[in-house]
Amino acid sequence: MCGIIGIVGTGSVQERLIESLKRLEYRGYDSAGIAGVVDGHVQRRRAAGKIKALEDVLAGDPLNATVGIGHTRWATHGGPSTRNAHPHTAGRVTLVHNGIIENYSELREALKAKGRTFESDTDTEVIAALVDSELGSGKPPVEALKAALDQLSGAYAIGVLIDGEDDLIMGARKGSPLVVGYGKGEMFLGSDALAVGPFTNRIAYLEEGDYVAIDHGQARIFDVAGKPAKREIRTVVASAALVEKGNYRHFMEKEIHDQPEGCQRTIAAYVDTLTDRTAILGGIDFAGLERIQIVACGTAHIAGLMGKYLIEQLADLPVDVEIASEFRYRKPSLRAGSLAVAISQSGETADTLAALRYCQAAGMQSAAIVNATESTMAREVDVVWPIHCGPEIGVASTKAFTAQISVLTALAIAAARARGKIDEAEEQRMVRVLMEAPRLIAESIQLEEAVRLVAVEIAKARDVLYLGRGPMYPLALEGALKLKELSYIHAEGYAAGELKHGPIALVDDKTPIVILAPFDSYFEKSASNMSEVMARGGQVVFITDPEGQRHAPAGARVVVTAPRCDPLIAPLVMSAPIQLLAYYVAVQKGADVDQPRNLAKSVTVE
Ligand code: M6R
Repeated sequence: MCGIIGIVGTGSVQERLIESLKRLEYRGYDSAGIAGVVDGHVQRRRAAGKIKALEDVLAGDPLNATVGIGHTRWATHGGPSTRNAHPHTAGRVTLVHNGIIENYSELREALKAKGRTFESDTDTEVIAALVDSELGSGKPPVEALKAALDQLSGAYAIGVLIDGEDDLIMGARKGSPLVVGYGKGEMFLGSDALAVGPFTNRIAYLEEGDYVAIDHGQARIFDVAGKPAKREIRTVVASAALVEKGNYRHFMEKEIHDQPEGCQRTIAAYVDTLTDRTAILGGIDFAGLERIQIVACGTAHIAGLMGKYLIEQLADLPVDVEIASEFRYRKPSLRAGSLAVAISQSGETADTLAALRYCQAAGMQSAAIVNATESTMAREVDVVWPIHCGPEIGVASTKAFTAQISVLTALAIAAARARGKIDEAEEQRMVRVLMEAPRLIAESIQLEEAVRLVAVEIAKARDVLYLGRGPMYPLALEGALKLKELSYIHAEGYAAGELKHGPIALVDDKTPIVILAPFDSYFEKSASNMSEVMARGGQVVFITDPEGQRHAPAGARVVVTAPRCDPLIAPLVMSAPIQLLAYYVAVQKGADVDQPRNLAKSVTVE
């Protein structure tokens, strides 16, 4: 989603605004722009497309400012074009915005009736016009901003420049995050810690409804009621170095390779290596819980489905998993004795956050499995269960997925023990198995070359089916999601048992069918499904383990043999082949791997 940077600097800010916008590219965007105060007046430079297009504009028309704002836009209201690119200007006000103003058409009509004209199709321009109107009625900048904010419904994080103010950027947040960065004689605003990461690691997170005025030496923060507020300044670890690609071509490739270490760090935080027992922070009484309600979106939702298999099977604790955007609007029946668990890499996904708040309002205890430990979700829940895989930049989630499953596996073991479903010796055995996962994931990643060869074939397909049973079913969903978001090939994941109930009609000799089946208790049935597919000319890519390879019916077009492992960690070990497959198909097709079209990394609007 849209990214924001603001700098009140001591030297030229053009290069640094661009540097920050490049850090924000991972969020997904379709146009970019910057603005700065030049000789007392705000000037803008904008371009549709990639930041390179903006740099081309700046090469011919540099922006010589020491105070400036920048933006990467992911289109919501109005198509991706230079005209709709931020910053937007109305009178003396120029601003950038992340979020959606829900009452914008009403406000726009009211402003038009007063003689205002609009040059873009965006909701953002309305905010600029409102602030300008308030300035026009004689209010000083911060009061004008507050008066405008009070008229908005919806979500926003904004950065504002005012003509004639060359030592001021104002900001505000509601629904979308915004951070203040504290430098040496300079101050920053950013949509996340990564935006200001190249310049400072001392940041304060604004709270819901906060607004702020920064100058070169200070930030004046006000709460939703307009009272001066203090927000803790934290030193964060999202340093510039952590988000480099290193020797990899793409962040996604790097992040797939990061997984053994990411899972190791994550697992280490949930087990006690001296006793081989689980060690879950937060004091949740798993024995006393009635049920768990997981809410999440996309890949995080699929991790939640995997959690359901694990927790119900090991701990006999009912788990409901629901897509957050559906959950909150269908008025689900909730019980206070349940635990709400939000799963989110970013901790900022608007639908997941709203679903979480819905559960909290019903009196449920809440927890969040997040990567961004400073995120809104992390700050609003009773218990934070962090993953420790480091910043994930590729839009396609990979290392966050396996780290989320690592946490869910540890939780399932702990819940099983707390509920008397396993004894201490079994808990220790399972913990030891879990600790083997990073090594086996590393082995699985070594299948890279074999998978790359499969990808050359899959890249020619129009449709691909993924099938799996038990925990391999969510993984089939994940394989299909990865393939479609990265390579734009239509793909569907199905429970293999569902094949005969419809999807088998799709099977022909042009449709590759990826079957995920390690040699586990589901294997024989998956092998039967494989035979059914091959009998109809289907081209099977069989992802299994050495034992599964030995027992498989002959005739698979390709067999990818992942390391043999305990079924407990098969979801972790089998993840790398499907991620690599999607990655290499995208590379083969020349797709934009780290920023697939139309997608955003962190979906902060509904
Ligand atoms: O930040 P979150 O984990 O809440 O994001 C949820 C989804 O938007 C995300 O997993 C998305 O589906 C990815 N593009 C999948 O690769």
